[in-house]
Amino acid sequence: MSAGHCLSSLIILDKSMNADVSSPHQVHAMEIVPLASCPHFVPVLAHWAYLHWYLHRNIRFSAVEADYRRRASDSILPVTWVALERGMPIGMVSLKDYDLQSHRQFSPWLSALYVIPQFRKKGVGDSLIAQTISFATEKGYRAVHLFTDHRNTTYLSGYYKKRGWELIERAFDNDGHYTESFRISIRREFPDGTPE
Ligand SMILES: CC(C)(COP(=O)(O)OP(=O)(O)OC[C@H]1O[C@@H](n2cnc3c(N)ncnc32)[C@H](O)[C@@H]1OP(=O)(O)O)[C@@H](O)C(=O)NCCC(=O)NCCS
Repeated sequence: MSAGHCLSSLIILDKSMNADVSSPHQVHAMEIVPLASCPHFVPVLAHWAYLHWYLHRNIRFSAVEADYRRRASDSILPVTWVALERGMPIGMVSLKDYDLQSHRQFSPWLSALYVIPQFRKKGVGDSLIAQTISFATEKGYRAVHLFTDHRNTTYLSGYYKKRGWELIERAFDNDGHYTESFRISIRREFPDGTPE
């Protein structure tokens, strides 16, 4: 299947972008892989990002696509992972050095977590977050940070709090919108299981 074919299918799937659609779609054999292993999906991921975060800010698709090409790395930040169900992309997440311009003292940042509406509320988001934290742990980071999308801060703050993220502060995002920044600490253990 060509990337062009995938892109047109997913444009149709993504029509109800913000809705949590209840559907018969089930997650049977999901895997989370680095975008570096399937760079042909760059236009698909860039298209999700463009529709969800950039279209209304008048940022060009080509700029978003170029950014996702840079994220197709499997070791140096930024790194993006893709959730694949039977080989088709259904979600994504990135880990970046910096995200919130006003908080450059913190690094790294979980960013651009996105699951297509038909596959929400099935644990895909959880798996993407877990992959990001596991990578950060492997790389020796002590914490991961994120900030919420201002259009859905109430839901998203609850979503992250439930998963152990702690509020750092209420702040303004890069466009001056209200947001909340969160951190999850990474606890390290010695090989015998005792905490560091
Ligand atoms: C935020 C987002 C990534 C969550 O993705 P998701 O795959 O739906 O997340 P999960 O399935 O892990 O969790 C969602 C809910 O489904 C529940 N759930 C998980 N598996 C479930 C299952 N098998 N059956 C029923 N409910 C389930 C979770 O408990 C969770 O409940 P909560 O909302 O009360 O916490 C998704 O809504 C999205 O893409 N939103 C648009 C982009 C966005 O806002 N990104 C975040 C930017 S900060």
